[in-house]
Amino acid sequence: MMKTTSLKYLFSLIAILIFSLANGQHAPKCDIEEDQSSSDLKIIHVNSPCSPLRPKTLTLSWEHTVLHMQSSDKARLQYLSSLVAVPSIVPIASGRAVTQNPTYIVRAKIGTPAQTLLVAVDTSNDAAWVPCTGCVGCSSVTYNPVKSSTFKPLACGASQCKQVPNPSCGVKTCGFNTTYGSSSVSANLVQDNITLATESVSGYTFGCIQKASGPSLPAQGLLGLGRGPLSLLSQTNNLYKSTFSYCLPSYKSLSFTGSLRLGTSRQPLRIKTTQLLKNPRRSSFYYVNLVSIRVGRRVVSIPPSAFAFDPNTGAGTVFDSGTVFTSLVKPAYIAVRDEVRRLMGSATVSSLGGFDTCYTVPITVPTITLMFSGMNMTLPQDNFIIRSTAGTTSCLAMAAAPDAGVNSVLNVIASFQQQNHRILIDVPNSKLGVAREACS
Ligand SMILES: *[C@@H]1O[C@H](CO)[C@@H](O)[C@H](O)[C@H]1NC(C)=O
Ligand SMILES: *[C@@H]1O[C@H](CO)[C@@H](O)[C@H](O)[C@H]1NC(C)=O
Ligand SMILES: *[C@@H]1O[C@H](CO)[C@@H](O)[C@H](O)[C@H]1NC(C)=O
Repeated sequence: MMKTTSLKYLFSLIAILIFSLANGQHAPKCDIEEDQSSSDLKIIHVNSPCSPLRPKTLTLSWEHTVLHMQSSDKARLQYLSSLVAVPSIVPIASGRAVTQNPTYIVRAKIGTPAQTLLVAVDTSNDAAWVPCTGCVGCSSVTYNPVKSSTFKPLACGASQCKQVPNPSCGVKTCGFNTTYGSSSVSANLVQDNITLATESVSGYTFGCIQKASGPSLPAQGLLGLGRGPLSLLSQTNNLYKSTFSYCLPSYKSLSFTGSLRLGTSRQPLRIKTTQLLKNPRRSSFYYVNLVSIRVGRRVVSIPPSAFAFDPNTGAGTVFDSGTVFTSLVKPAYIAVRDEVRRLMGSATVSSLGGFDTCYTVPITVPTITLMFSGMNMTLPQDNFIIRSTAGTTSCLAMAAAPDAGVNSVLNVIASFQQQNHRILIDVPNSKLGVAREACS
């Protein structure tokens, strides 16, 4: 039953696609010039119509884009749960290809003179690495250490070398191997200046990729915004005090309109906050305490176990910038979805890919409120309903967490739900803040 509906949708997608191609879709007007004066780091969605990294094979069809994002989400969620897995348990998805790509990119300038790379930001990761010139298996845009007067390789004996996964001492320099999604990376640990927006950090330690394989590496490198030992936050603690905020623009945004603001200055002073929790199972994740969910005016009935924060298993709720659609453990998702369906009365429900609550009439549910301890985050329709460009289909833009097998399941508050909000991460005060902000 479900299968036939999805198939029907797929065919109508293809029909829409052919139709729009036949109509000669206009290329969007892109404005991706750099703003030299801003001390905010500009953010764009990696697959935005104007993103320099948008895959050439991606069409501009709305449905196609949605299905593509859903499939990357599935892999991302499996990757996140594999990170919280109890080490003695075999990670999920072994033998299955796991691809996942972080979804937002910023400009980072590395070295002297500066070399610009479009690195992916990932709030659930500590690592930073970029493809280096000569790298086997990397994309064509690379960082060339030879051309930088401030570049320094790190020796085996350096204290930072003890913090990387699988360190190895090749030709005296500190090397390491790591994985990201289903990709693997072999890199040297190096130091150079990094300039994010207008501020320059000298002697920043990161990985210089020599060899890469697999489908899920961000093309021009990764900037982890997690809070573990070698992260950007830990390295710049004197400068930024482990505090930052960001506003993610819509995936449809035509320019770098989002922003990443590092440090304590210019942060919102009056902002609703909830406690930021730290889970030793995964020290880089930003855990919060989700307690219930309100759909319209009704708080839906969800067993507390669905939200329980558990330092022993890694279960709980995290804010993540790399997943697109919020994923809730099954009992929580079902309760939310059923209330939306109840409010929609007799309207015919259909599905689109992984979304199971879609309508061809407007969805009338005005708000969904994520209730955290001490903070309610009331989402307007734009943050929980995804509408086709033609306006003919609307879907509840959340999903049930994929079955994680032996791994504990995470609730993930994802980017679609965060977009056009400022999210403040204040590690020293253990606070996560949320305020509406239109960064489109
Ligand atoms: C890199 O750092 C050095 C030493 O702190 C500084 O002199 C130089 O101006 C920096 N370069 C850039 C491009 O910021
Ligand atoms: C890391 O990967 C490289 C290249 O794939 C390999 O030659 C090396 O043995 C690996 N080192 C470790 C410590 O696993
Ligand atoms: C969140 O909303 C509920 C009503 O649905 C209210 O009882 C509660 O006090 C609110 N919490 C905060 C922190 O505003």
